[in-house]
Amino acid sequence: MLLLTLLSCTKDDGFLAFPADFRFGTATAGFQVEAGCDGCDDPNSDWYQWVTDPDIVSDGTTFNSGDSLDLGPAHYDLYEEDFARAAEMGDLFRFSFEWSRLFPDGEAEQATSVEELAQYVDADGLAYYHDYLAAMKGAGIEPVATVNHYTLPLWVHDGKECREGDGVCVASGWLDEDRIIPLITLFSQYLAREFGGDISMWLTLNEPLAVIVSGYLFPSADRTNPPGLQKPELAMDVAWNMARAHAQMAEAIRAEDADAEVGIVVNLGVAYPESQEVDDIRAAEHLDYVYNEAILEMFLNGNFDSDLDGIVDETDPSVAGKTDWLGLNYYFAFEVAGFPRPIFSDYEYLDFFPKTLDSDVVYLGQAIDMTAEWGLPIWITENGVANPGPDDGTGYVEPALRTVRAKAEEHDVRGYMFWSLIDNYEWNHGMGMTFGLYEVDVETKERTLRATGETYKQIIADHGFVETPEG
Ligand code: BGC
Repeated sequence: MLLLTLLSCTKDDGFLAFPADFRFGTATAGFQVEAGCDGCDDPNSDWYQWVTDPDIVSDGTTFNSGDSLDLGPAHYDLYEEDFARAAEMGDLFRFSFEWSRLFPDGEAEQATSVEELAQYVDADGLAYYHDYLAAMKGAGIEPVATVNHYTLPLWVHDGKECREGDGVCVASGWLDEDRIIPLITLFSQYLAREFGGDISMWLTLNEPLAVIVSGYLFPSADRTNPPGLQKPELAMDVAWNMARAHAQMAEAIRAEDADAEVGIVVNLGVAYPESQEVDDIRAAEHLDYVYNEAILEMFLNGNFDSDLDGIVDETDPSVAGKTDWLGLNYYFAFEVAGFPRPIFSDYEYLDFFPKTLDSDVVYLGQAIDMTAEWGLPIWITENGVANPGPDDGTGYVEPALRTVRAKAEEHDVRGYMFWSLIDNYEWNHGMGMTFGLYEVDVETKERTLRATGETYKQIIADHGFVETPEG
């Protein structure tokens, strides 16, 4: 601590220190890291179905890589050694629970209280998560727990049936508010009761926009989530259901776990027009509204603009004030082109097309500024670089962290978690997109530290930057 205090004081000598209590770590998600070893697959989730079902995989409009889950990094078996690696990259580790590992079949739906739900838990799944959290603690790292990072149990969401039924299906996941909101709220309460002793930093949902946009609005080669439909009216239902679920989940967690701090992960869309043409300028403003203001108004304040025309149509006062902190995931900004008319005539502001993705760190700074406008403490819950090129990503991580450090002087930015510790199964891209500080050999599962990892470690050890950048 004394060393940190001294470092913070050396700014005048050219040393740029992070705030003394600023924390670092790495981020992962269950489905993306677990598979790749014998008996490690979890066949009971919608994402397992989405990347293994031959009909779904061979359907070109799901943009599925078809990569076998056997190529995954096998963290399910190798978590202890991974935690030793994570402990060299700060003292936070973000992971997510897989609902279907704890409640693999629909029997759990009979439960009406957390006590009843406990009777249906899968004993192996339960033991696994207790061991997992104990190992994390043993390695000296603190968990940051995401309750739901996209995956739903098949009994809650059958993405194939919903796709084939064009949104009409029995297990319709986020479309069925009467089912999913109480189910995921009870599940959250269960997690907080069972694991609250080991966890104080909680996140309800990861990037609702990814579920809404890639699942129900514009599935694309960049990302497609089950059920991969293009139905704005369903997308809006899903958004509103997720917003109300988030608030109830947060409340349920806090009720069980007295020291819980509950946040949500957002990926705000920094947008700029492709040209100075009127249509492009308007489109960038509309993307900004839809991806940022409309979403955060929904999730933080319970204000719902159901037809995306800039006017709130419905308010649920029980949503407001339920969020303790914001997790920001940042990867890129959008260069936006405009359409002369809305793509869907009933949704006036859906007249934009994110043409190019730009990962310049200047937009990371803007994303932090935008997040700060909502007045909550900020943690960067994901940031990283895909497919690091010849410089191995070192050219990204340092400028990114310089930006974060500068922003931590202006706003309440408390920590940074790099995505990701290890290469992982990148949703519809499979192992074809790599983000790890450690490269993973898909056959042997051997992990090799990348230069990015060395750089990140050094920045953490220095708690800042020894030299100011040139120029
Ligand atoms: C998600 C991660 C994903 C990362 C890189 C975020 O959208 O939370 O699961 O791997 O971006 O694409």
